[in-house]
Amino acid sequence: MNTLIIGGAGFIGSHTADALLARGHHVRVLDSLEQPVHTGDWPDYLDRRIDLRRASIADRAELILALDGIDVVFNFAAYQDYLTDFSRFFTTNAAGTALIYEIIVNERFPIRKIVVASSQAVFGEGLYRCARHGKQQPGPRPRAQLERGAWDVICPVCSGPMDVLPIKETYTNPQTCYGLSKHAQEEIALTLGRQYGIPSVALRYSIVQGPRQSLRNAYSGALRSFTMRALCGEAPVLFEDGGQLRDYVSVHDVVRANLLALEDDRACFQAYNVGGDRRVSVLQLAEMVIGAANAPVAPEVPGIFRVGDSRHIVSDVSKLQALGWQPLVSQQDIVNEYVEWAASQHELRDAFADARRRMTAAGVLQPSQVHSKEAA
Ligand SMILES: NC(=O)c1ccc[n+]([C@@H]2O[C@H](COP(=O)([O-])OP(=O)(O)OC[C@H]3O[C@@H](n4cnc5c(N)ncnc54)[C@H](O)[C@@H]3O)[C@@H](O)[C@H]2O)c1
Repeated sequence: MNTLIIGGAGFIGSHTADALLARGHHVRVLDSLEQPVHTGDWPDYLDRRIDLRRASIADRAELILALDGIDVVFNFAAYQDYLTDFSRFFTTNAAGTALIYEIIVNERFPIRKIVVASSQAVFGEGLYRCARHGKQQPGPRPRAQLERGAWDVICPVCSGPMDVLPIKETYTNPQTCYGLSKHAQEEIALTLGRQYGIPSVALRYSIVQGPRQSLRNAYSGALRSFTMRALCGEAPVLFEDGGQLRDYVSVHDVVRANLLALEDDRACFQAYNVGGDRRVSVLQLAEMVIGAANAPVAPEVPGIFRVGDSRHIVSDVSKLQALGWQPLVSQQDIVNEYVEWAASQHELRDAFADARRRMTAAGVLQPSQVHSKEAA
């Protein structure tokens, strides 16, 4: 088959390209090589057999040329950040996706499937249970609460403690422009897909981890930040108290989910969670990284928080499991593979301080009352 991967020069897109080539498909990539993810050149890890096209998803003429002759499309292009340029999330993530469908419908391109990369961010603060008041889908934690260093989500009815629950595809409650734009992207893909008979699948990834994740992108998360610090002999810096729970998933498991979405027609017109099916705290992740990097440091918890972060977020992956998919890579193996890869990168440098300055200047990173000034 002829496949088009929009955003295929990036982390998940390039691993998906390798898997498609290994299955004998032709791969074309359209990517604008956005900074800071890229340096301006095509990354070395891209296979030479790929037909590379440098253009934005917003460039109608280039997108028409890229879609011509294609059977299936993966859309991984996205603007992802914690910064305050709110409109850009919708231009790239939502309008970009709508343009793919607009061109396919108007040009009558015979596309057999479109897979779009959505995100766990559509869940916002996640799903909880209060012992007295049952299931709750809270909004973001109030700023005043976070400033007091009171990190846990409390019951909106009685202010009591709550347990986090794995969240199914049926719940959505996005609280950031990124999450809102990803929710819009899903709705656009599934609604237009159904209306125009273009089989479409939305995959809601949890936090994806693995080699090739840009070392320059502050959004690429805790594993990158902790690894860079540990490999430079510095302590990983944790937000809040490090007790946040996540269900990190390996890029190799994500690629298998992408192939399943492509090959299994039971997935058409559906959204699926793709997560690690486990709960790992940010502190546990930091300790694993320190161990894998053999760094003589301990995690640093200066009592700072990121505006808009979810306290806990864990996806229920049973819907995808019912199609035969399982996350196979353990958290320890994810960390070991990533640390080994990062250590081999020439460009390795501790970009954490830069990212932290940028986010502090934009008001995204805030101190709480338990903030320790020495560590800041
Ligand atoms: N990595 C994760 O943890 C994660 C989690 C949930 C969802 N996702 C989603 O998965 C997709 C892939 O993520 P990734 O981690 O591989 O990101 P990435 O940044 O490594 O790759 C994205 C690629 O899209 C390209 N791109 C960005 N804007 C573009 C535009 N306007 N036109 C064309 N290309 C553009 C970038 O240059 C980059 O190569 C994204 O849609 C992201 O929102 C990722």
